[in-house]
Amino acid sequence: MSDQQKKNAGEAAAAQIQNHTTIGLGSGSTVTYFLDALGRRILEERLDIRGVSSSEKTTRLAAERGIPLVTFSETASLDTAVDGADEISPSLALIKGGGASLLREKIVIEAARRVLIIADEAKAVSVLGSFPLPVEVVMFGWQQTKAKLEAEGLEPVLRQGENGPLVTDNDNYILDCRTGDVSDPAALHRRLKQLTGVVETGIFPDQADEAILGTPEGTSILQR
Ligand code: A5P
Repeated sequence: MSDQQKKNAGEAAAAQIQNHTTIGLGSGSTVTYFLDALGRRILEERLDIRGVSSSEKTTRLAAERGIPLVTFSETASLDTAVDGADEISPSLALIKGGGASLLREKIVIEAARRVLIIADEAKAVSVLGSFPLPVEVVMFGWQQTKAKLEAEGLEPVLRQGENGPLVTDNDNYILDCRTGDVSDPAALHRRLKQLTGVVETGIFPDQADEAILGTPEGTSILQR
């Protein structure tokens, strides 16, 4: 059921994309449905759309679907970024990074004039904090960074991949943290970002403009 909801959200976002635009392509299973639908539109409607990818996986998926990709050396800004989320608050603060792509996703999202989030409706929560907060840290001295996060009361756990610790596209590690209810997402992000060794946090306090939530019947919209 939730896969159908992700598909509903992804297809609704793809239907909104205008011709002659450059789109930030997020990462994750909901974005994969968006890429499916966008690839179909580009082919059938012969659209002139270019994407900037936020992960190695999305780069591969976009290429397979015939979505032309460019990099930030070819485009300075993006018209729209479309990305998923792990939790969405009523004010559209997000937790992202369940797929370990949070750093590139944030760079892509911050380059976009409009940020559209797509997710199944279960991602909408009254307060952020049930989903463990992904924090990307440099490999060197990660134990020291983990200790600093422990001192903040966050119970960090080193994320594992198939063969040992998961390594991100940027050659970093992820520490998944227990935050409890996050009453002030921006403040928590600022506090963690200043710790030496922390590269980025999965809190996106104010970047999203709109969320399309997939429902069993179709979609519903969340706006700031
Ligand atoms: C990737 O790092 C994440 O930020 C994803 O956007 C998030 O995990 C949502 O993924 P799904 O669409 O697979 O739920």
